[in-house]
Amino acid sequence: MAKVAIVGATGKVGQYAALSISRIPYVNEVQLYGRPGSESVLDGVARDLIDSFAATGTDSHVSWSCNIEDLKGSDIIVLTAGVARKPDQSRLDLAVENAKIVADFSQKIGRIAPDSFLMMVTNPVDIMTHVALKYSGKKPNEVFGLGTHLDSMRLKSAIASFFQVHVSEVHTRIIGEHGDSMVPLWSATTIGGIQISNLPSFAQVPIDDIMQQVKSSGQKIIASKGATVWGPGEAIATLIRTILGNENRILTVSAYIKAEVHNIGDVCIGVPARINRSGVYPVPIRIEPLEVRNFQNSVEKIRGITREIFS
Ligand code: LAC
Repeated sequence: MAKVAIVGATGKVGQYAALSISRIPYVNEVQLYGRPGSESVLDGVARDLIDSFAATGTDSHVSWSCNIEDLKGSDIIVLTAGVARKPDQSRLDLAVENAKIVADFSQKIGRIAPDSFLMMVTNPVDIMTHVALKYSGKKPNEVFGLGTHLDSMRLKSAIASFFQVHVSEVHTRIIGEHGDSMVPLWSATTIGGIQISNLPSFAQVPIDDIMQQVKSSGQKIIASKGATVWGPGEAIATLIRTILGNENRILTVSAYIKAEVHNIGDVCIGVPARINRSGVYPVPIRIEPLEVRNFQNSVEKIRGITREIFS
């Protein structure tokens, strides 16, 4: 059984993630961490969460703390703390301010919970994943970010809706930046196991419109309701369940790559990765020439800003 801690548990994503994580059968403790001064809110989140357990039969223990030392013993730590994006802001606009917050937490987590996996949610998540890797002192397979797993979910839903099929019949991936330069892998997209490009109706698919819808989804939700919550919250739980269940699924997360994608590397970015109880391992893949060019462009964008942050 495992202890999962959420740093930033007073935030909207952190609160929902606590609920979705508490329902994972391998989890026996959910710890809510918030900065000193947020004791009352944390207590309320814990009480509200426990109330729900009477209906769901969840038996996870819920603890909360404003003392960072209490993260000790965590199996997975989910870092959602940071300045949230405003409707007119890009994720990259947050980079400098959130890098300071993530670096500080990562250094402490590396000391307090050296055996934990560190999962980044704070945006811009690809850059924050690299910051967490650098400052936590953890190994690359122990640090990863939500990355384009959520974007891949959004594309999956959009394709299912267009083709009027159940979402479970669609397999697709978006790699690259969790942001405007994200790269859909149409070459790795299937419906009912059939390569999408082998479907005559593929010619009618409004690819550009669908990708614009996926890219702008986060911003539109933030503009209308203040934050994205259930999408990222369920995506976080999927990744945690995959680790704790030792499921060996290949999901698209932000991870440090050396040369797994056409010898492109030295960056943290959304890539297909095998995920199990030992952590996150990018999978060597081959993609179409246009996808390689777009991925290279995304890597150069993220690598450039990451280097600025580290300079
Ligand atoms: C979104 C946030 C998690 O895309 O960046 O909803």
